[in-house]
Amino acid sequence: MNRLERLREAVDEIVERAADRRSGFAHLHGVAAAAALLALRRGEDAELAAAAGLLHDVATYETGSADDHAARSSQRARQILGLLRGFDPAEIDAVCAAIASHSDKANVQDALSEVLKDADVLEHALSNPLASLLEGHAARWEALRRELALSVLPASAADRPGE
Ligand SMILES: [Fe+2]
Repeated sequence: MNRLERLREAVDEIVERAADRRSGFAHLHGVAAAAALLALRRGEDAELAAAAGLLHDVATYETGSADDHAARSSQRARQILGLLRGFDPAEIDAVCAAIASHSDKANVQDALSEVLKDADVLEHALSNPLASLLEGHAARWEALRRELALSVLPASAADRPGE
């Protein structure tokens, strides 16, 4: 089993005990896949991007609270990656820095942080294409739509007659 697969198992063990397991699995694995896609598109490290995606909200699902979740998830990610072995200190620092800043969608940071923020926006937008975007996601979604040559999302269900 490679290090990413071992990380996936460690994250799954945590999410298994979460109150909102379905959302935990779907969102963390979805952001990991979206992060790998964006990293490959941008010539960044897809494995580290996937690792950051898997861990980026881990504290939220572990504790059931989203308070200060970026900082708490970053700290928890450092523990998990340290115990897991296989990731070197510079990689752990890069992943944890990206997780710590992922709620700051308004500002642009290093390439891995940008991949993670955009992957979070992409997963939220794709998980329910008819729902409104989350607050603060619109500008990044618009940029992603252009970058990935995606069509405009259909009008929200609430805007369509008969629904
Ligand atoms: Fe997220």
